Formats: sequence, C-alpha cells, structure tokens
Amino acid sequence: MTDFFANKKTIVITALLLMIFAMTGAALVGLTFEQTVDDIKYNEKLTLLRKLNNIIPAQSYNNDLLLDTIIIPPSGLLATKANTLAYRARNDGSNIAVVFSSVAPSGYNGPINLLIGVHANGSLAGVRVVKHRETPGLGDAVSITHSDWILDFDEKSLSNPKPKQWKVKRDGGVFDQFTGATITPRAVVNAVHDALLYFKKNHNMLFSPSTTSTEKDEGKTQKS
Ligand SMILES: Cc1cc2nc3c(=O)[nH]c(=O)nc-3n(C[C@H](O)[C@H](O)[C@H](O)COP(=O)(O)O)c2cc1C
Repeated sequence: MTDFFANKKTIVITALLLMIFAMTGAALVGLTFEQTVDDIKYNEKLTLLRKLNNIIPAQSYNNDLLLDTIIIPPSGLLATKANTLAYRARNDGSNIAVVFSSVAPSGYNGPINLLIGVHANGSLAGVRVVKHRETPGLGDAVSITHSDWILDFDEKSLSNPKPKQWKVKRDGGVFDQFTGATITPRAVVNAVHDALLYFKKNHNMLFSPSTTSTEKDEGKTQKS
C-alpha cells in the first residue's frame, strides 16, 4: 500500500516537472520567434533599400523611399499577376525617379523578375534582375552578379535607341546577346521596353501622392 502511494507521488511529481519544462520551452520559443521576426523584417527592409539604392543613389533623393510607395495593380505590360509596389524618390518634393517590378515572361527557363528604375524624364535609372532560373554560364549573364550586361540599359529611353532598335543585335537592335544564348537577353530587352511604355502611360499615377506604406501592404503585394 505504501509502495502504491509512493509510486503515485513520483508519477505526479514527474508529470508536473514535465509540464513546467514544456511550458518554459514553449515560452522561450515564442519569445525567440518574436525577436527573430523583428530582425527578419529589419533585414528585409535593409536588403530592399540596398537594392533600390543600387538603382537610385541615396544622395539623389531625400524622402523615405520605403514609405513613399504606391500599389501597382497587375499589368499586361509589366507581366505582373498580383499587386506590386512602386517606390518613389523625391528631392525636396521634386520627382526624381520611380522603381517598380516587372517580369520578362519568356526567359529560357521561365519568367525573369526585374526591378526597373525610371527617372522622372523617362530615362532608365537602372535595371536589375532580382530572380531568374536561367542557365549558369549562359543566360545568367543578365544578372549583375555575373556580368555588367544589364548596365547597358542605364540612361536608355523610349527614344534612345529608336523604337526599331530596342532589340538584341541578332534581331537588328543595339543590345548585345550572349554567345549561344539569345533567348534570355531578348526576353529582358522586350520586358524593359514594355516597362518604359508602362511608365509613359502611367507617369502621373506613378508619381501621385502615396496611398500606402510598405508596412501596411507587406502582406498583400508580390515581393520584389
Ligand atoms: C541545356 C541548355 C541550356 C540553355 N540555356 C539557355 C539560357 O539560359 N538562355 C538562352 O538564351 N539560351 C539557352 N540555351 C540556348 C538556346 O537553346 C538557344 O539555342 C539560344 O538561346 C539561341 O541563341 P543563339 O541564336 O545565339 O544560338 C540553352 C541550351 C541548352 C542546350
């Protein structure tokens, strides 16, 4: 009988200890998660700002690029299927440039995601590939990490080069292709040209006062 009560007591104590351990563990995981989420959000913003500043130098504007945003609805010219955000650079209220997302749908291995920066006057501030699946050593030269081909777009506009020359050299245009890999650069050239057409058609909307902030719309928009 005494043994029976001693065993029962041990079981209850063990169960209580297990419960305390489990609760402490869960609390620690919860606390770490909250701190990590904040760190992740901060790092994501920093990464995004770096990407944007690669296209529009930080010294050329004095507003908060990450907060001066506007939602762009899905667009055929941008080949986007969800809302995206445009980031506007202004200096003492004057429009400097806007950066928005577009997609080159016909890459060799699928869509190529781009960030397009356009100065207020319609010339390109810069283009960057943010996501692609092109073949290493062939199509991946469109990415700045593999070659500086993408820098050829700097300062180009709808009138420079002339419309018929907005093509790779193989097709009679001015943009280089890569040896044995014409499909990828052709797709990017077409997408950048379409993005400039989008900019021309939507200039006023793109620079209109902010309707949103990145904080508020983070969950609702396609990531850059
Ligand atoms: C395995 C493999 C991967 C390829 N990857 C690419 C690519 O990423 N981008 C590209 O433009 N062409 C790629 N190509 C080549 C295309 O099939 C096509 O031949 C080429 O783009 C046409 O360019 P060209 O007229 O300069 O030969 C690849 C070919 C093979 C066999």
